[in-house]
Amino acid sequence: MGRGRALPLLLLVTLTSLLLFRSASSEIFFEERFEDGWKSRWVLSDWKRSEGKAGTFKHTAGKWSADPDDRGLQTYNDAKHYAISAKVPEFSNENRTLVVQYSIKFEQDIECGGGYIKLLSGYVNQKKFGGDTPYSFMFGPDICGSQTKKLHVILSYQGQNYPIKKDLQCETDKLTHFYTFILRPDASYSVLIDNRERDSGSMYTDWDILPPRKIKDVNAKKPADWDDREYIDDPNDVKPEGYDSIPAEIPDPKAKEPADWDEEEDGIWKPPKIPNPAYKGPWKPKKMKNPNYKGKWKKTAWIDNPEFEDDPNLYVLKPIKYVGIEVWQVKAGSVFDNILICDDPEYAKQVVDEIFANREIEKDALEEAEKERKAREEEESKRAREEGERRKRDRDRRYGDRRRHRRHDPRDYLDDYHDEL
Ligand SMILES: *[C@@H]1O[C@H](CO)[C@@H](O)[C@H](O)[C@H]1NC(C)=O
Repeated sequence: MGRGRALPLLLLVTLTSLLLFRSASSEIFFEERFEDGWKSRWVLSDWKRSEGKAGTFKHTAGKWSADPDDRGLQTYNDAKHYAISAKVPEFSNENRTLVVQYSIKFEQDIECGGGYIKLLSGYVNQKKFGGDTPYSFMFGPDICGSQTKKLHVILSYQGQNYPIKKDLQCETDKLTHFYTFILRPDASYSVLIDNRERDSGSMYTDWDILPPRKIKDVNAKKPADWDDREYIDDPNDVKPEGYDSIPAEIPDPKAKEPADWDEEEDGIWKPPKIPNPAYKGPWKPKKMKNPNYKGKWKKTAWIDNPEFEDDPNLYVLKPIKYVGIEVWQVKAGSVFDNILICDDPEYAKQVVDEIFANREIEKDALEEAEKERKAREEEESKRAREEGERRKRDRDRRYGDRRRHRRHDPRDYLDDYHDEL
């Protein structure tokens, strides 16, 4: 219980009371901190072992940690398959919230490999557990190169696996991170990393398990009674009396009959017409909001999908009997720890808070380790550089001396020739 020693007393008391007063109805189905006795619970698979492709785990806290006594399972051999599993007292998540949580620390530059866990149902021969063993749930990071930083959330339904449709990303640094999946009886879910929600939604929409509830109606026609006029004439606005008798143009009052106007020849003089400032144009009633407005009608109306058939137990996994780690890694060094399967998100949150109480210590330890690594690498490259320079000097001295000799005394050429024989 090294973690306990490292915690300040006050924090320990607080956490203990939190744990004691946990909701009485909540249940922990499985919890593994990889303390004493873990070996009796976990079975290392022989999958790929005869081909020499199976890796082993080391029971360690890794190169840097908040507490060197708080050990987990670390992948140990490069370019190997890893498969290990533990029995879980069988349970169903029907009518209850399912919480699956664990921590992983990628101490290595993994290059390419998985860091996820699986929940298995039915009977599994744990000695043969491997990549082909069916699972009910798979959750966690999968990294490859600088492009792939996937966070898998795969649910099995009636024997088929369905990956989440969203593109979720995992953490890629060298610190411990907690991954939490919460699935509720209303088929809503949340994905948390380090107690912060990364994503949430519904199994109905974020996995292609059931056909969609609503579909677009491509044959839709606008209903005859669909009123899509947003504004209409105000029926209370009436035309003022005499409005229509106002002329659009009037004779220009400023115009004068020209002096040379000859009525006999030119006819009776009339002033030219100008626009009437009093004229307001044809009368229009004021506009008002249409109380019967139904909105713009869209051709893509949503209708109930005739193919949709609800399964109220969509969220219910096959009864869970095992939890397993089954990954392949180019570079080994990932530490799995703190596996928790329960029905209480609050308890899962407390576990993360408890472990992360010492997160600064882990960060400092990582920083220290990285500093040492850099210093070592610099020392090595300095040594390599010096070695290269020394060789170059040796070479230059030998050939350079020869060139000088040749220049000053061509007869030395013969000596050189003999030297090299
Ligand atoms: C789950 O709840 C439903 C509805 O209340 C009930 O019919 C069903 O028996 C419950 N199942 C279990 C396993 O408790």
